[in-house]
Amino acid sequence: MFYTDGKLQYKVRVDAPNPLFAKMLQQAVGGVEGEIRVCMQYMFQAWGARGPKKYRDMLLNTGTEEMAHIEMLATAVALNLEGAAPAIKEGVSATNPMMQAMLGGMSPRSYLSAGMAAMPVYSDGVPFDMSHIYASGNLAGDMYANVAAEATGRTLATRLYNLTDDPGMKDMLSFMIARDTMHQQQWLAVIEELGGPLALPIPDSFPQGQEHQDQSYVFLTTTIQGGPPAPEGRWSSGPSIDGKGEFRIEPARPHGEEPVLSSPPPESFAQQSQIDGGPGKSPLLGTKQPEQAAGGEIIDKVKDTLS
Ligand SMILES: [Fe+2]
Repeated sequence: MFYTDGKLQYKVRVDAPNPLFAKMLQQAVGGVEGEIRVCMQYMFQAWGARGPKKYRDMLLNTGTEEMAHIEMLATAVALNLEGAAPAIKEGVSATNPMMQAMLGGMSPRSYLSAGMAAMPVYSDGVPFDMSHIYASGNLAGDMYANVAAEATGRTLATRLYNLTDDPGMKDMLSFMIARDTMHQQQWLAVIEELGGPLALPIPDSFPQGQEHQDQSYVFLTTTIQGGPPAPEGRWSSGPSIDGKGEFRIEPARPHGEEPVLSSPPPESFAQQSQIDGGPGKSPLLGTKQPEQAAGGEIIDKVKDTLS
């Protein structure tokens, strides 16, 4: 259930409306670094949360706060589209305020499609893409995604802060920048509660004995021989971050063989020379019959896992 008291989380005041700045603010509404993204990300993480209830509750609280940030920005966009100073003083369009606003940088759709209001799009006018929502069901993995979202969001907010000299907009953005500070801290605090580095590698519920452990802590350099030196740093020597291994550096080398695909089947309608000139059946294919390999086993395994 969601409630509203109809008021903004923080005051939104625009001293000098600027349609070009409204367009910039749209990035914080509908950009991948923006507020719709974090709102939906935290909500879907909450709605799918399993395990200790407090994490679900916390995510719901912060997801709801992010909705209030969308509301503040949408208000700021709308106010910036109002009563902007004429972009040009003379000319055929000088008496048309909408045309003036467009010449001053307003996206035409802000008027044509939305009647001078914010839209769920980023600054180039493209609708927000929900595929940027990360909610994996792994709490630690999601917390790292949340830190990245707040880090890039705070970076965007500081750039917007730098782009405006409007005192009202600076004040609103400084509030939002502070909330991004807290949210970075908040997700990192959850990671600390989960064990910090000891919760690595994510997921920590998969037995590491089942991975190729000789590959777990080696930095592979793909620099060619005689090229620039391999990049060295914290990642190339010393104890690993999870304390379970020792970093080392090695030149990357192929462990596999050359990929060979079977000749194209007739029904693929490849060129005859491709069909005739191929290797026949790929030597990399096993001996199982297609009916055994074509999904039957995988589907059985999925059924077993889910039942
Ligand atoms: Fe926010």
